[in-house]
Amino acid sequence: MSDETRGFSTRIIHTGEGEVGHPVPLTTPIYETTTFVFESAAEVLAFNEGRSAKYLYTRYGNPTVVSAEQKVAALDGAEAALLFSSGMAATATIVMGHVSAGEEIICGSAIYGGTLHLLNDLLVRFGITTRFVGLDALSHPDTVFGPKTRMLWFESPINPTLRCVDIRHIAAACRAQGVVSVLDNTFASPINQQPLALGVDLAMQSATKYLNGHSDVTAGAVAGSKALVAPVEKARRLLGTILDPQPAYALARGMKTVTLRVERHNANAMAVARFLAQDARVSAVHYPGLASHPDHAIAARQMSGFGGMVCFDLGGSLERASRFYDRVQLFKRAASLGGVESLVSLPVLTSQWGHTDAQLAEAGITRGMVRLSVGLEDAADLVADLDQALG
Ligand SMILES: Cc1ncc(COP(=O)(O)O)c(C=O)c1O
Repeated sequence: MSDETRGFSTRIIHTGEGEVGHPVPLTTPIYETTTFVFESAAEVLAFNEGRSAKYLYTRYGNPTVVSAEQKVAALDGAEAALLFSSGMAATATIVMGHVSAGEEIICGSAIYGGTLHLLNDLLVRFGITTRFVGLDALSHPDTVFGPKTRMLWFESPINPTLRCVDIRHIAAACRAQGVVSVLDNTFASPINQQPLALGVDLAMQSATKYLNGHSDVTAGAVAGSKALVAPVEKARRLLGTILDPQPAYALARGMKTVTLRVERHNANAMAVARFLAQDARVSAVHYPGLASHPDHAIAARQMSGFGGMVCFDLGGSLERASRFYDRVQLFKRAASLGGVESLVSLPVLTSQWGHTDAQLAEAGITRGMVRLSVGLEDAADLVADLDQALG
């Protein structure tokens, strides 16, 4: 039947669709489609039997998303990578892909709050238990493994103290025990730290932060061997936690400049940390790039840059920290990190909200701490803003 003889509704639906191949786009376009068209039953069969790389349904996979995933795999030096609708979606899907009811996760107690609550409040209801351990135990995981330990989840650098742990040592201990190690690499980004090369099994990150870098996409990522990524992919299909094609396109665009951006984040953060370290109004500065940081030697061994996050203390006083917070002009008072804009937050009012003095002391956090996500502005302007806000 020719197009002209078809009805108006038929023509409006089908005209202009499915024209692929030419012209060849330079960038992978947004495949804004929920499903993909097959030529024949034989083609569906080939797909089902894994003999064809064709796409079936966007919840399973989509060319725009796969294009961005290939970039993540390249950045992480991985065989395979997956993208999710948020960092939390990545975390939940990784855990559900690998851990079953009755099994246990060991997790560093200084961890992103969302991860803590997911493990402690939600997944425990499904029979997955988590044992949270302090820095010392985390650094010697063979002392904490139990018969049911299936996964070890940790971060380095840790929010907000930016303490670092010996990733190679922890990953080797996990491998010897057959425990899946997962590092949340959000703070460092793969530009500054390569978890898989250090022996970690799965490198997770909130792509919302440095990977996208423009504070306009919420996404999560995991990278690792095909064998360890496969169960996560299976769980992602069932949970529906895959990233949509539109944000995948934006993320891919952001990733093209991540190397340049992170170099500038590193340089600006170092300038800010050095300024704060010589200022008598500041009682302590936490930045792994400073020789005064307790884990500087570990960081220098396993990081190629020290990142864009800087934390400092105003004498343990929330009143002083609040006054500083209210006075900044260039730094924006906002949660999150890793974007082009410099941001400021007070850990006791955000990630550590509601923590007791004892909990804060155990995590090495004070009420006077200020966390900076140092952006890509001119370093001199950032330092001038900090200087005036210190008052
Ligand atoms: C270290 C870390 N991991 C995971 C997440 C969760 O990522 P998302 O907000 O993309 O779900 C965050 C968010 O702030 C984070 O800082």
